[in-house]
Amino acid sequence: MEEATGVSAAKIILIGEHAVVYGTPAIALPIPSIQLSAHLVPRADGQQLIHSVFYTGTLEDATDAFAGIAKVLRQLLTYFSARTQGFDLTIDSALPPERGMGSSAATATAIVRAVYAAFNTPLPHATLLNWTSVSERAIHGAPSGLDAATTSAQSPQWFVKGHTPQPIHLPQAGVLVIADTGIPGQTKQAVASVAAKLQTDPTRYRPEIDTIDQAVRAAAVALAQNDLPLLGKEMNRAQASLSELGVSSPQLDRLISAARTAGALGAKLTGGGQGGCMIALTQDTETADKVVDAVTEAGATATWIHAFAAEDSRS
Ligand code: MEV
Repeated sequence: MEEATGVSAAKIILIGEHAVVYGTPAIALPIPSIQLSAHLVPRADGQQLIHSVFYTGTLEDATDAFAGIAKVLRQLLTYFSARTQGFDLTIDSALPPERGMGSSAATATAIVRAVYAAFNTPLPHATLLNWTSVSERAIHGAPSGLDAATTSAQSPQWFVKGHTPQPIHLPQAGVLVIADTGIPGQTKQAVASVAAKLQTDPTRYRPEIDTIDQAVRAAAVALAQNDLPLLGKEMNRAQASLSELGVSSPQLDRLISAARTAGALGAKLTGGGQGGCMIALTQDTETADKVVDAVTEAGATATWIHAFAAEDSRS
């Protein structure tokens, strides 16, 4: 093993979360300026130590929130015949954990990249996704694969479960505000609660999945036609269905409403919901700044700005 670093980025689901679990499309984008890195340094004494905000301690003792990541790391070491190799693994993350920005998938992606680099082995993209699915399944139950696909991507993605993601172009104009409720999202529980609703009352809830499906397809047309007001409208339509499916929260609703009042073209939760982050689409940075002020006033604990054109984010 050699010293090596792997990096990944935050992801934002623009539209399509939850329905994507049932085979409908979603549009997601990496936010390259919000990065996570995994730095691996070999140790001669055989100790396997992890240093991160999520967990600090030995690989052997890693449980709970870090168990899925530890699982993929153990399997990687076995794959490289290095199960007893000592190391310090330091994870530095600008992503808030459990906020729907793909923190767990980004962590796994960076670690897989670091381990492959440490063993001087090329890493095909499909192999990377296979590895990250090990931890994503352990952490989220039955993930669609969207988070792993997007945190390792270089460009916005049109994603359908089980298919190779396709790059999708964003308009030149358009600025997203991302705002954190400060409350951990509950992706696994949220996905399970939607599944339970669909099972017990499909007549009521299946149409919400279909509405999100239609909103995603209309959003793709809006992107292709540089029609930001239409994109905002479709984001609002998806949010109404996510709310009906029970995955919004009072805090998310407050930030979404504040963003719309401040001039956002559309606003919705992003990711698993029931906490976590919301996104708001604005026409320009001036309106984005107003939305930042409004959501901060409404209780957001952190905000980021991401311009579609510039791939430029400020925190
Ligand atoms: C979580 O970031 C996105 C969900 O659609 C779950 C998934 O796709 O696995 C809620």
